[in-house]
Amino acid sequence: MRKFECIDDNMLIGGVRAIDLAEEYGTPVYVTDEDAVRENYRAIYGAFSRRMPTRINYACKANANLAILRILEQEGSCIDAVSIGEVEACLRAGFSPERILYTGVNVSNHELAQLVNRNITINIDSLSQLERLAEITSGARISFRMNPEVGAGHHEKVVTGARSTKFGVPRDRIMDAYERAIELDFQPIGLHVHIGAGVQVVEPFAKATDVLVSVAQELESKLGLQLEFIDIGGGIGIPYRPDDSPMDLELLAEEVTSRIKNGTSASKVVLEPGRYIIADTTVLLTTVVDLKETPDRWFAGVDAGFNTLVRPAFYGSYHHVAVANKFGRPGEVTYDVVGPICESGDHLAKDRLLPRLEEGDLLAVYDAGAYGSTMSSQYNMRPKCREVLVRRGSSNLIRERETIDDLLRHDRIPSRLML
Ligand code: LLP
Repeated sequence: MRKFECIDDNMLIGGVRAIDLAEEYGTPVYVTDEDAVRENYRAIYGAFSRRMPTRINYACKANANLAILRILEQEGSCIDAVSIGEVEACLRAGFSPERILYTGVNVSNHELAQLVNRNITINIDSLSQLERLAEITSGARISFRMNPEVGAGHHEKVVTGARSTKFGVPRDRIMDAYERAIELDFQPIGLHVHIGAGVQVVEPFAKATDVLVSVAQELESKLGLQLEFIDIGGGIGIPYRPDDSPMDLELLAEEVTSRIKNGTSASKVVLEPGRYIIADTTVLLTTVVDLKETPDRWFAGVDAGFNTLVRPAFYGSYHHVAVANKFGRPGEVTYDVVGPICESGDHLAKDRLLPRLEEGDLLAVYDAGAYGSTMSSQYNMRPKCREVLVRRGSSNLIRERETIDDLLRHDRIPSRLML
């Protein structure tokens, strides 16, 4: 968990008081510290690139705000994209097509054609996709996503590398896939796996790398194929709870790169971190609008619900909560922090010991940068909130709040219903 400075009971984010940001931009609002994004990128790139040539494909599903993408473009990052929307956002943020690797699942022919038109390299998920791509183009550089039969993650919904999941070419068909790709005149240049998300330990990454290395060796010996890259996917966890430990990046980098360097002739390691780069750079600021004592619990009602941050409701995820205008004060009362959505599953946090709250207090929900904004919705007809970038004491709006008109813009009423 990132440490925040405090002045006179007030939390500072990137040198700006949280209460001033709430005053200027309203709440709820996502606030991202630009320096933190750069720092995280450099930490992960540095740990791997000190050991072997490295490419970071930032998994922009975690946060695809154009300003965030610009920062990472400036840092030299590349991109893992999963939809034509993400590809388009990255192109508009200044990434050239060769810096984008598309890894989709159950990809339609229409989307394949759009990718080919934009010269995007495709990481192929199935033999069906390979055959369908061959009908649209030939000669292209491609890679394959393999199901490594090694899965891990913070919740069963995000384990992607297990054998039972829908992802990747099955391990026992992967040689056929490369052979067929060569027959179809493609140039296979890489091999990829993604084991899952929110993995806090090194071991599953090491296991998955062993699988990658053994397949790369088979590709070399049986097909004479030398891969340009081996891609270990994303999924590096972060410490969401105060007593969680951070991933040991040096150990992770050592375990992965030593296996690749010793076992293959691949010239580059690729990683696709989303959460690691962006999660802890961002807090969600939300105002306490209502307080309710019931026989069972004390509820702190806030203006952000699972429409704004769905992770607690969807995965039971823990996000640390602090009172931004009573920062550092000791906890006195145990609250459930709940939002305005009309479902009893609408909570941001449960059983949190916080300083005694009053209406108007400002809560900071930590580690909201990954899968916060991108998974937000307009459920209950609530417009999506603003996003703000802070840097060394100043702030910029990076996403405008939606309006009610935005929500209604795409609805159509057939004229017969207007009579
Ligand atoms: N690469 C691939 C192929 C992926 O499917 C994902 C995430 C990543 C990279 C990046 O994973 P990360 O480093 O961010 O963990 N909504 C969930 C996470 C789902 C991740 C889906 N795929 C959450 O809020 O925890």
